[in-house]
Amino acid sequence: MMQPHSLVVHAIIIIKIVMKGKVMITLRKITKDNVNAVIDLSDTLSAAQNELVAPNAISLAQAYGYMDLAWPRAVYLDETPIGFVMLNKECKYHDSETVNGAYLWRMMISADYQRKGYGKEVIRILVEMLRSEGKKYFKVTSMLSEGSPKEFYEKQGFINTGQMQGDELVLFMDL
Ligand SMILES: CC(C)(COP(=O)(O)OP(=O)(O)OC[C@H]1O[C@@H](n2cnc3c(N)ncnc32)[C@H](O)[C@@H]1OP(=O)(O)O)[C@@H](O)C(=O)NCCC(=O)NCCS
Repeated sequence: MMQPHSLVVHAIIIIKIVMKGKVMITLRKITKDNVNAVIDLSDTLSAAQNELVAPNAISLAQAYGYMDLAWPRAVYLDETPIGFVMLNKECKYHDSETVNGAYLWRMMISADYQRKGYGKEVIRILVEMLRSEGKKYFKVTSMLSEGSPKEFYEKQGFINTGQMQGDELVLFMDL
């Protein structure tokens, strides 16, 4: 007969098999418990990738300044912080004509966790949330230099407008 301990082990293995393919990504508030870990994630990016996104420390300082607009969140894989996203939920600061939209102001996944489908899951979660809030428009801008995330955003359904905002290409998605 199977011992209770082996039953538990078997149950865990079965749960893991059932969950395989399901990505356990959550977006969580920045708190005293995770702020330093989120800041440190920027150090994992290559020099080229650091040209594509501001350091998380800068983003968090801006979130403090734009407290009424910014929506900063840590990206968690189960209980591990693996990335950072920040929305401008009103799109008032960057683009006054899209008041009922949201702007994906910052996004990064730490180097060791890239290309595993987690960024895709983050966008899916954001789109679902923004739709439930009645937002109609989701905008992102992308640098075009080495390692550009343009193709990543296009794969998630953002459309290339061909327009530049400073050095960055503007992409959008109707929600
Ligand atoms: C861009 C970034 C957020 C993508 O996150 P990720 O978790 O690596 O992306 P995913 O694994 O979910 O990729 C989803 C798809 O996009 C593709 N993709 C991801 N990054 C890409 C890139 N830079 N160029 C082209 N394709 C890319 C993946 O190959 C995958 O394709 P598939 O669905 O055909 O298999 C991440 O690479 C990152 O943090 N980069 C550095 C910072 C950065 O550029 N931030 C964006 C600033 S606007």
